[in-house]
Amino acid sequence: MQFASIWREPPMADPLILGIETSCDETGIAVVEGFSVRSSVLASQTEVHARFGGVVPEVAARAHVEAIRPLVHAALTQAGVHSDQIAAIAATRGPGLSGALLVGFSFGKALAWSLDKPFIGVDHMEGHLFAPRLEHAGYEPPAVVLLASGGHSQIVHMRAWGEYEVLGQTIDDAAGEAFDKLARFMGLGYPGGPAIDEESTDGDPAAIAFPRALRDRPYDFSFSGLKTSVVTSLEKAKQAGSVPPLPDVAASIQEAIVDVLVDKTFNAVDATGAKVVAGGGGVLANRRLRERFAAAAAERGVDLYLPTPALCTDNGAMIGAVGAYRLERDMVDTWLQDVDAGLRLG
Ligand code: KG4
Ligand code: ZN
Repeated sequence: MQFASIWREPPMADPLILGIETSCDETGIAVVEGFSVRSSVLASQTEVHARFGGVVPEVAARAHVEAIRPLVHAALTQAGVHSDQIAAIAATRGPGLSGALLVGFSFGKALAWSLDKPFIGVDHMEGHLFAPRLEHAGYEPPAVVLLASGGHSQIVHMRAWGEYEVLGQTIDDAAGEAFDKLARFMGLGYPGGPAIDEESTDGDPAAIAFPRALRDRPYDFSFSGLKTSVVTSLEKAKQAGSVPPLPDVAASIQEAIVDVLVDKTFNAVDATGAKVVAGGGGVLANRRLRERFAAAAAERGVDLYLPTPALCTDNGAMIGAVGAYRLERDMVDTWLQDVDAGLRLG
């Protein structure tokens, strides 16, 4: 009697992608299966940079070099997969710090080459655009998406996956940069966003009326004047001997930033008639911003998709998600592709 072997490797539902993110100060590595996260690990450098009050590019690149190999190993182990099972490797190509980008990009390319797998260079901001899809199957274009991080603040009209129109952006500082600079001024440390978020907990957001800039432009932001206003108003208060409580200052600053982010994003929702609104980037981890987004979306009856805070900030899974999308369409890159620190969406 003969037995035919019918045992095969159980097929994966979707191809496995290794996602690598090293554009700034987080080494993020993940294994995604299509748009499902199998593992996502992170080595944060915030402590290393905190004593300098901001990210030092050379220090960031070196820290990525130290972290990347053990993290890739950890991501594969946690996902329960061997590197041979990976269908493609996706790594952030830009925008970001050149030295930092080069670490993840070169590592990813070398690994893909040695495993004989396709390599995909990913736009970091497109990663943030894809992040909500990792948790919400209903998140589909057309959608209006607010991208707000340490380096960027943009309102994007995503007509289809891969089809992005930047409706508006900051003309000076990014929203996260404003949080970081103001927190440093108030002695709250780095990164400033989470510090101001925390300090605001029992503060009164209406205590001080800080300016909301560029009211005449529906989708653009400006945050540089806010810092001047905070500095002058606190100096005046000091001279008058009536310095407001720190939680009130923090909550008022946060409200000024959140107000314009919400107003302008929903200007775009109203103008485009989009039924889906979403967000990505570290600033979207802000509790007050999330509350205000939820209220504005509910008022209009549009669907809101925000990633959990860990997927708002930089991570490898969002890079893997773009990789999964691109691999399915055969949009892989050649070995000649290089990083592009100034890459721009759309
Ligand atoms: O997307 P991200 O992790 O890195 C970049 O691509 O820049 O964003 C980092 C930025 C920092 O400026 C940080 O202060 C800000 O996101 N951020 C926050 C919060 N968590 C992180 N801003 C406000 N509230 C938060 N809870
Ligand atoms: Zn980012």
